[in-house]
Amino acid sequence: MRDFRNQIARGFSPYLPGEQPQGAGWVKLNTNENPYPPSAKVLQALGQSAEHPDLLRKYPHPFSESLKELIAQHYKIPADFVTIFNGSDEALAVICRCVLDAKDDAAYAAVSYSLYPVLIEQAGGHPQPVPMHNSDGLTLRIDQNALREHTARLKFLTNPNAPTGEFLENDKVVQLLNNTESLWVVDEAYHEFTRKPSMATLVSDYENLIVVRTFSKSHSLAGLRVGYTICGNTFVNAALNAFKDSYNLDSIACRLASAAILDAEYTQSTVEKIIASRETLLQKLSDLQFSVLPSSANFLLAKPPASISAEDLYLKLKENKILIRYFKNSEVSEFVRITIGTEEENTQLLSAIKKIINGSNG
Ligand SMILES: Cc1ncc(COP(=O)(O)O)c(C=O)c1O
Repeated sequence: MRDFRNQIARGFSPYLPGEQPQGAGWVKLNTNENPYPPSAKVLQALGQSAEHPDLLRKYPHPFSESLKELIAQHYKIPADFVTIFNGSDEALAVICRCVLDAKDDAAYAAVSYSLYPVLIEQAGGHPQPVPMHNSDGLTLRIDQNALREHTARLKFLTNPNAPTGEFLENDKVVQLLNNTESLWVVDEAYHEFTRKPSMATLVSDYENLIVVRTFSKSHSLAGLRVGYTICGNTFVNAALNAFKDSYNLDSIACRLASAAILDAEYTQSTVEKIIASRETLLQKLSDLQFSVLPSSANFLLAKPPASISAEDLYLKLKENKILIRYFKNSEVSEFVRITIGTEEENTQLLSAIKKIINGSNG
């Protein structure tokens, strides 16, 4: 038999997802999930799905047409601008596969979503992290000039950025897009937590823009796996449709995501609760001498006080069944990323942190 080892193990560093502990009793603040349940209308649609066995027997619509229409109505754009994916991670992977040729550069802020370099490499491209503009030692800011001037064929902007929470207003994003030599992916996974208009409403004006969005965060549907792209460029949309799996979204996911987008009022209500809790948690962590970056997302990046390292804090909280995210061997290894939980979870977190800092735990 031919030896396939070289082709299979090409030294990829895989993406390291946050831990998903099994069993009850965990306060899970490590993967930026929404702490509130999905809309009751989504759960109702889930129950009703059991009355329609054809949803399972038959293949789904290959382009999830009904969901596309609803998303298009939501943003007041043509349905052809929307492509549905099995989570926005699939959208990002398909974009890399259909845009990058061997050794093409793809650029992104060095501290942003750590999946980008993995997907770029898998597509045969060349990851180009753009160093952060770190002017005063704490603020890990996107270097907008360097990102704009980079000659990469494909560029990613996470907006708000993860894990820093930095948000660029649309006028700043537009300045980046004016470098039309590159195709830009604006990843708006956390955008609802900004209360600002999405770049999706501007796709008709920018042929080099693909906006990526997800149901995982604001709609509390990370387990369902539904994401989508919005793009005004017919050629790009044809490529996305050609490169995705034929039946990438299952029929039930399509129905449930449709119920979620129709219940905008509920989505907004959980988003508002999370924004309010974010500001409270930021204040309380600052009172405990953490250095916390301002955030427009559903998480905070925080540097613990000098008395404890970020890694020790992460480990000690884990002993208390509280999970937060620690990025070992990274540019943010002095920080922890904390997903905003319910008020009760945030209170549990703060009281555990106080005990750890005061030395009465571990
Ligand atoms: C910036 C960013 N983009 C995309 C995703 C993936 O979202 P999805 O669950 O839709 O695959 C995440 C998930 O955490 C993220 O942080």
